[in-house]
Amino acid sequence: MPSLADPVRSRALGRTGLSVSEIGLGCASWWGQKAFDEREAVNLVHAALERGVTFLDTGAAYSGGGAEPRLGRALKGRNLERVVVATKAGTFHDGRRVARDFRPQAIIASVERSLRNLGLERLPLLQLHGPAISELDDEMLATLEELKRRGLVGAVGANSFDPAVIDHIIGLAVFDVVMVDYNVLRPERAALIARAAQQGKGVLAGMALAMGHANRQVMRLRAPRDVWYALRALKNHRGDIAKGARFGFLGRLDGLSASQAALAYVLADPHVSCAVVGTTRMAHLIDNLGASGVTLSPAVMDQIRRAQGVE
Ligand SMILES: NC(=O)c1ccc[n+]([C@@H]2O[C@H](COP(=O)([O-])OP(=O)(O)OC[C@H]3O[C@@H](n4cnc5c(N)ncnc54)[C@H](OP(=O)(O)O)[C@@H]3O)[C@@H](O)[C@H]2O)c1
Repeated sequence: MPSLADPVRSRALGRTGLSVSEIGLGCASWWGQKAFDEREAVNLVHAALERGVTFLDTGAAYSGGGAEPRLGRALKGRNLERVVVATKAGTFHDGRRVARDFRPQAIIASVERSLRNLGLERLPLLQLHGPAISELDDEMLATLEELKRRGLVGAVGANSFDPAVIDHIIGLAVFDVVMVDYNVLRPERAALIARAAQQGKGVLAGMALAMGHANRQVMRLRAPRDVWYALRALKNHRGDIAKGARFGFLGRLDGLSASQAALAYVLADPHVSCAVVGTTRMAHLIDNLGASGVTLSPAVMDQIRRAQGVE
C-alpha cells in the first residue's frame, strides 16, 4: 500500500539529460478553465511540486488558451531548478475553438508567447501538438534546431495519438521526446514505445487514465466538471466506453485504487519516463502520486492482459 511518505520516483527522459517524476501533472482541460477556481488550480500545482512532481505538461491551446498563463502564475516565485515545464506549439485557441498553425514562423511566435505566459527564459521541453507528417518538412526541422541553438528551447518533442506520425518522428534527429496515448486501453502502443526508446527518444504517456475510462470515473457525475469531462470523453473517445468497462476489476484490488493500478500498468513499461495525468481534485492528485514505485503482481498483470484481449 503506497503512503504519502513515499517520494515520487524519477526516471531519465531518453537522452535529454533531464530527469522527470514518474507521475506528471497535466495542466490542461478543466484545470485551466476560468470556471475552475484559480486558487484550487494553483494549490494543485504547489502540492504536486512539494511532493516531488518535476514534470508539468501544458499547451498553448489548452483550456481555451487559459492553461499556460495560469501555470505561469502558479509557478511565480517557485524554485524550478529541477522542474521540466513542457508546453506545446502548433495549435492555439482563436477565441472560439482550437486552431492549428504549423508554419515555422507561427511556431517561433508561439514559443515566444509561451515564454511570456510561463515567465520562463527557456522552455525545458517544447512539443509540437499533433503535427501532420507533411508539416515536418526541412524548414520546420531547421526551425526547431534554431530554437534549440538560440537557447529558447531545451528539448524538442511531439505529441500525437497517430502511430504513423510517431513512427515518422522517431526517425527525425531533432526530436528528443514523444508523447503517446498509452494506458490500459492501448496496449498496442507498447511496440511503438519500444521503437522510440531504441532510437533514444524519451517517452511520455499522455492520457494515462484514458480520460477517466481506465478507472471507470468518467461516468461518475458529481459536479459540473464531471459533465464536462464526460462530454469530452464521449466526443473524443466514445469507443473506449466498452473497452473501459472491462477494467472494473481495477477498482477492487487490495491496497490500490483503480487509478493507481492503471498508472502502475503504464509505468510497468520501463521505456515510459512519465505518466501524465490531469486532475482538478487534491485527493486524486495524492492518489495518483501513490502509483509511483508500485509493482503490479503477475496475477493482476495477467488479469489486465486478459481484459485487453492480449494473452
Ligand atoms: N486528452 C488529450 O487529448 C491530450 C492530448 C495531449 C496531451 N495530453 C496531456 O495528457 C494529460 C492527461 O490527459 P487527460 O487529462 O486528457 O486525461 P487523463 O489524465 O487520462 O484523465 C483525466 C481524468 O481522470 C480524472 N482523474 C484523475 N485522477 C483521478 C483519480 N485519482 N481518481 C479518479 N479520477 C481521476 C480526472 O478528473 P478529476 O479532475 O476529477 O481528477 C479527469 O476526468 C493532459 O492533462 C495533457 O497534459 C492530453
